[in-house]
Amino acid sequence: MHKENVYILGIESSCDDTAAAVLHNGKVLSNIIANQSIHEAYGGVVPELASRAHQQNIVPVVDQALKTAGISKNELSAVAFTKGPGLMGSLLVGSSFAKSLAFGLDIPLIEVNHMQAHILAHFIDKEGYEKPEFPFLAMTISGGHTQIVRVDDAFDMTVIGETIDDAVGEAFDKSGKLLGLGYPAGPEIDKRAKLGDPKAYKFTKPKVKGLNFSFSGLKTAILYFIRDQSKNNPEFIAQNLNAICASIQYTIVGILMDKLKLAVQETGIKSIAIGGGVSANSGIRTALKNTEQKYGWKTYIPAFEFTTDNAAMIGIVGYLKYLKNDFAPQNTMATARLKL
Ligand code: KG4
Ligand code: ZN
Repeated sequence: MHKENVYILGIESSCDDTAAAVLHNGKVLSNIIANQSIHEAYGGVVPELASRAHQQNIVPVVDQALKTAGISKNELSAVAFTKGPGLMGSLLVGSSFAKSLAFGLDIPLIEVNHMQAHILAHFIDKEGYEKPEFPFLAMTISGGHTQIVRVDDAFDMTVIGETIDDAVGEAFDKSGKLLGLGYPAGPEIDKRAKLGDPKAYKFTKPKVKGLNFSFSGLKTAILYFIRDQSKNNPEFIAQNLNAICASIQYTIVGILMDKLKLAVQETGIKSIAIGGGVSANSGIRTALKNTEQKYGWKTYIPAFEFTTDNAAMIGIVGYLKYLKNDFAPQNTMATARLKL
């Protein structure tokens, strides 16, 4: 097969972002995302509304991705889409669209695991960005997942630790909700954390053995803390919001870093990559960067546009699979609980 000029269309619709991207030989030509603001009013993603918004967005978003890339759909080599994990109704929109388009154009269809894509986003060709060498450890931190993965090859990954309850993004979002912040609260907590004292309040870290995480206890601790403080001072949140955000972020970053240190100790691998929406967090980025000097780790931190859900990461997996002729049949199915 001719593989000199490979144009991949990536489509992502696993949660509440409808995204499409075009990659040329692993380089991003366009990366379009339509966020669904409709969920803000509900303080979380409403699956039925997400699915409907994907249906409205998918055609214009793909159209925009092709236009921005400056190519016509007839030049595409393959269509890659998110098979899972995610919300079934959301996944169905992207997968059905991808299947029809590939069928209509008579080009290969490629299925992509969303979590694998968060990790392989590090292999997008970007000037000045050095790609990780195998083996490395990847920590995927998002609104739906928290995992530490041993990556021996692009398609040889082993989950060595994961959350037993909430994802780390949920810890940010649910804490934010308790503080009256909008959804998703992660970015706002991050912004405010920069202005407050991270040691103002102490929250105990969960005691989970090994490389697994737990965040539900922290959420409860914050709930009680705020309730008790507000009893004495009804203005407690308003008067101390930055310090509360800084303390919450400090605690969460501490939890993530403790597990990473343990993972490095257990595996002897000192190359660490992060991915997923929470990897946009300035606290985790700084903490990770500091380990280069402190412990001699090599760290890989993605560009902001590849941290939260996007289709460029689906496109890069599509490209890597295209090179291996790893194509999906037309009867492939979206899978809500797809494993890594
Ligand atoms: O990867 P993503 O876009 O979607 C999922 O697959 O879940 O991640 C979204 C999550 C949300 O929980 C959001 O609050 C969090 O990423 N997030 C952040 C930041 N930016 C996004 N959390 C902390 N700090 C940030 N700067
Ligand atoms: Zn994600």
